[in-house]
Amino acid sequence: MDAQPCVQLWCLLTAGALAAVSGAPVQDSPATGKFWHISDLHLDYTYHMTEDPTKVCFSSKGHPVLNPGEFGDYMCDSPYELIQSALNFMKQAGHLTDFIIWTGDSPPHVPVKKLSTNIVIQTLSNMTDTIRKYFPDLQVYPALGNHDYWPQDQFPVSTNEIYQAAADLWQPWLKPEALKTLREGGFYSQLVQPGLRLLSLNTNLYYSPNKETVNMMDPAGQLQWLLETLESSRQSNEKVYVIAHVPIGYLPYAFNTTALRQVHNERLVQIFRKYSDVIVGQFYGHTHRDSIMVLLDDQGTPVSSLFVTPAVTPIKNAREPYSNNPGVRLYKYDPQSFAMLDVVQYFLNLTEANEEQKANWKLEYTMTEVFDIKDVEPQSLLKLAKSFATPHSKAFEKYFNHFMVSYNDTIVCQGLCKVLQVCAVQFLDSATYRQCVEGWLSAEGLDDNLP
Ligand SMILES: *[C@@H]1O[C@H](CO)[C@@H](O)[C@H](O)[C@H]1NC(C)=O
Ligand SMILES: *[C@@H]1O[C@H](CO)[C@@H](O)[C@H](O)[C@H]1NC(C)=O
Ligand SMILES: *[C@@H]1O[C@H](CO)[C@@H](O)[C@H](O)[C@H]1NC(C)=O
Ligand SMILES: *[C@@H]1O[C@H](CO)[C@@H](O)[C@H](O)[C@H]1NC(C)=O
Ligand SMILES: [Zn+2]
Ligand SMILES: [Zn+2]
Repeated sequence: MDAQPCVQLWCLLTAGALAAVSGAPVQDSPATGKFWHISDLHLDYTYHMTEDPTKVCFSSKGHPVLNPGEFGDYMCDSPYELIQSALNFMKQAGHLTDFIIWTGDSPPHVPVKKLSTNIVIQTLSNMTDTIRKYFPDLQVYPALGNHDYWPQDQFPVSTNEIYQAAADLWQPWLKPEALKTLREGGFYSQLVQPGLRLLSLNTNLYYSPNKETVNMMDPAGQLQWLLETLESSRQSNEKVYVIAHVPIGYLPYAFNTTALRQVHNERLVQIFRKYSDVIVGQFYGHTHRDSIMVLLDDQGTPVSSLFVTPAVTPIKNAREPYSNNPGVRLYKYDPQSFAMLDVVQYFLNLTEANEEQKANWKLEYTMTEVFDIKDVEPQSLLKLAKSFATPHSKAFEKYFNHFMVSYNDTIVCQGLCKVLQVCAVQFLDSATYRQCVEGWLSAEGLDDNLP
């Protein structure tokens, strides 16, 4: 997540636009497939406890960190302790998982000059080794995040030191065919088991701050490759999980802003609609917040479930009114159809962990239970999304509290804040998103507040 002009909700609000923001082991039947999702670890190797509040971490960018604790601070990226505590929790949680997906962003949020290609590679290497140390026998599927490059966001369309380093580091997890495209373009596909394929996309190629790919229709030929891979999966009767760092769709905390360039967002939405019979789940990171999206086809039928996992790092921008607690999550899926059954979100109450000097990772929520839905397939997510849109929706209040990973349940999201959240869940292309936002704003008499 990066600073943007005044389109972010907290910015609009500060501008006076609207007063809106006022453990135990688990046993499941072996018939349930499970996998972990971790993202946005953002290791700040400079984090340390010190008397000088401006020197606690590079990632606070000089902002004072008044009461830093062993497990980190909301003004800083992750100390190594925090990342270790997350992996340690996952290891001892008692779930028999089939694999881990890891959707990128290892280096800290610091000025470009503080990093280098070497430091980025060292950080990637550190995080890879650390994950492997906790899970020596578990398959891991990584994706590159916009911070996993130097200078950040500037992902090139052909091979380079960082794609090469990633391929070398991830060689124990990936097959030669996957490593080949990873070296060339930062993306790959690999068969998880007969009938299930995973696609790891390099969506950083379509991220707006990437100057390397400006005006390119198909940087690194990834879209062509994606179409061919999905077509071949369809021919072979395989189902597909898509993982990537930067998500498709609209940012739930910003006005009319796609995370990717709009033209590539539209193209990906088209492709994912066309292959919705093949794709059974999409998994992203990058926003650092917990959200869902449900992709509708041209008739408004729900066809794909998308999950954006919250970050391990608790960092917030100095001007933001709220942050997120560190989170890791588990998905449950049907081992025959690979359909998505549930999301089990765990979190660390960072304030409490620092007070007690003990990282007590806990269950935050189980999606089917807290929202009373039968699974997390597209139909169920649409039903849920529609319930969010009702006035004073309790389901939406919970959803927004989860969005911040239970950071502070007295912060409420009403008015424009809620409109943006609710529209972002269901509307991923510009025509339907616009219709949603405009409809709501005129109905609520909020349209004078638009930027
Ligand atoms: C990763 O970095 C941390 C913090 O600098 C260091 O303590 C640790 O030993 C490193 N671990 C690996 C596996 O490189
Ligand atoms: C949203 O942004 C797009 C492209 O940036 C623009 O064409 C459109 O008019 C905007 N919509 C609204 C409702 O402001
Ligand atoms: C987190 O811990 C703080 C301090 O102990 C407490 O006040 C707060 O209610 C806790 N939040 C949650 C969601 O448990
Ligand atoms: C939680 O949010 C409320 C309302 O915005 C604020 O007054 C309070 O200080 C916040 N609490 C913490 C612990 O940040
Ligand atoms: Zn990130
Ligand atoms: Zn990111």
